[in-house]
Amino acid sequence: MGVLIGGLAPQAQAAGPPAGQRIALANACMGCHAVDRKLVGPSFEQVAAKYKGDARAPAKLAHKVKDGGSGVWGMIPMPAHPKMSDADVRAVVDWVLQGAPSR
Ligand code: HEC
Repeated sequence: MGVLIGGLAPQAQAAGPPAGQRIALANACMGCHAVDRKLVGPSFEQVAAKYKGDARAPAKLAHKVKDGGSGVWGMIPMPAHPKMSDADVRAVVDWVLQGAPSR
């Protein structure tokens, strides 16, 4: 209908960032990860490339986000996120596996 609710960032609402990106920002994932370069953890593009075509990747990575772990990319551990809902974990993992698109 094109009617915006309130006056909040009409531009952002119109474009609509992917849910996975919003979840990544809300859960401080981007403090350790960037889309296109390695920070503390691997870039999300690297993760997407590594697991391309791996049917088990969504389940494996959801488990990793929830429970944390190390040894896949190096010795630095990925922290656990026990408070994230399964739906949020799944959405953010799907987004990462798509190469973390910004729209
Ligand atoms: C304190 C830093 C830190 C934070 C915060 C963090 N990560 Fe990580 N992440 C890492 C590190 C380090 C690794 C590499 C772990 C390894 O080598 O097994 C990693 C690995 C990953 C991987 C690849 C896992 C694998 O086994 O290949 C994904 C996907 C991922 N992170 C997603 C996320 C998401 C989503 C969030 C937010 C909910 C997040 N990370 C928050 C540091 C972090």
